[in-house]
Amino acid sequence: MLCLLARRLVRSRIGISKGFTPSRCTDPLQIFPVRHHGEYEWQDPKSEDEVVNITFVDKDGKRIPVRGKIGDNVLYLAHRFGVDMEGACEASLACTTCHVYVKDGYQDKIPEADEKEEDLLDMAPFLRENSRLGCQIILTKELEGLELELPKATRNFYVDGHKPKPH
Ligand code: FES
Repeated sequence: MLCLLARRLVRSRIGISKGFTPSRCTDPLQIFPVRHHGEYEWQDPKSEDEVVNITFVDKDGKRIPVRGKIGDNVLYLAHRFGVDMEGACEASLACTTCHVYVKDGYQDKIPEADEKEEDLLDMAPFLRENSRLGCQIILTKELEGLELELPKATRNFYVDGHKPKPH
């Protein structure tokens, strides 16, 4: 059970699809990625090849261009650049406060939402066809030019009302 949870968490953090299974899982802590809570997103790209330029559009329509990199989690990247994406559950797929709209033409470049994400999105206010949870989007080179628009509002139904601060 612990292994299953660990695999799920790893998938959600690094964007691996459902079929992924680590070769051995004796200790779930061994398969956690080195990065936690957005430390990776605070690192600048090491080379131009790694750069992925995206734009956030906040709820007031303000465009915020961001120089991200391959492997960045959109939620933590948003925190780094002061974009108002809450992320109440810190990417553990337990809220919808990282809800974003994905620009046309990019939806197929992001791995499909799994059942849990779909279930959560069903509860998100202002749901659209191009809705996704930002914490489940990991940047790849294919996502160069991606635009992510924030909805007018999100609902925080996180059990204890905890609101994490950007690191
Ligand atoms: S931060 Fe809670 S689901 Fe994305």
